[in-house]
Amino acid sequence: MSQLSGKTAIVTGGGSGIGRSISEAFAAAGASVAIFDLSEEAGPETASAIEAAGGKAIFASCDVSSGESVATALSACQEAFGAPNILVNNAGIANIGTATTTSEEDFDRVMKVNVKGVYMCLHRILPLMIENGGGVILNMSSIAAVTGLKDRFAYSASKGAVHTLTLAVAADHLEQGIRCNAICPARVHTPFVDGYLEKNYPDNKEEMFQKLSVVQPIGRMAKPEEIGKLALYLCSEDASYITGQTFNIDGGYLNLRG
Ligand SMILES: NC(=O)c1ccc[n+]([C@@H]2O[C@H](COP(=O)([O-])OP(=O)(O)OC[C@H]3O[C@@H](n4cnc5c(N)ncnc54)[C@H](O)[C@@H]3O)[C@@H](O)[C@H]2O)c1
Repeated sequence: MSQLSGKTAIVTGGGSGIGRSISEAFAAAGASVAIFDLSEEAGPETASAIEAAGGKAIFASCDVSSGESVATALSACQEAFGAPNILVNNAGIANIGTATTTSEEDFDRVMKVNVKGVYMCLHRILPLMIENGGGVILNMSSIAAVTGLKDRFAYSASKGAVHTLTLAVAADHLEQGIRCNAICPARVHTPFVDGYLEKNYPDNKEEMFQKLSVVQPIGRMAKPEEIGKLALYLCSEDASYITGQTFNIDGGYLNLRG
């Protein structure tokens, strides 16, 4: 038996980067994966790649910040694979700025996707898991939630909220058979990072990539697959005694500097 055989998993933002690696790892471990993604390109492409590799996946078009959109995607998941056993709240967006330079629009946009989006999925999907006798939730936080990063005001605030709502969900639903944990990566080399470099440093991307890599004492960014493996462990029965935890996966960033 594979680690997740017979399980249905929803991965938000599952079309790209970390979410794609999680979707692929889950499918390879036997889960049926519903990819809830805004991108009409990355989402279907990842679902097709999983199917081509012999796994089970569907793309469900979804904006996690809209309750209606989550409900529609959830119906598609239920129709294809039945009720979800695992929810990975991974979809998120980045933002650069301090409290003084972040615009009201940007602050609202980051909170809407990174915090309300997680709430919306929990609000719609948790009741089904509870009805089913239990399930596993994994939230994608960031080291920005646990240490001060320059120029990440709104993003850090949003990931701090993800961090604490993880604890709240774990406490509220323990007796209903729900485990809830979070992962806090340092820099992971995904399209998220490439987009950030393209937007903010179009003339010295390579130099900035190097700079961002060596910030991690291990000397490089994480590979998305490395996050996928931790996610697979935390969402499997192997982690049946783990709940209410946040896991740093950071190449030594938090503890080994200086
Ligand atoms: N890459 C990093 O260095 C890093 C580090 C720490 C935490 N994270 C977190 O990991 C998560 C994934 O990051 P990534 O680097 O893989 O990003 P990515 O940009 O490569 O992928 C994000 C995916 O989320 C989707 N998405 C965005 N907004 C959405 C919405 N409203 N509804 C549904 N889907 C939406 C995008 O279409 C995309 O497919 C994010 O929550 C991010 O904050 C990333």
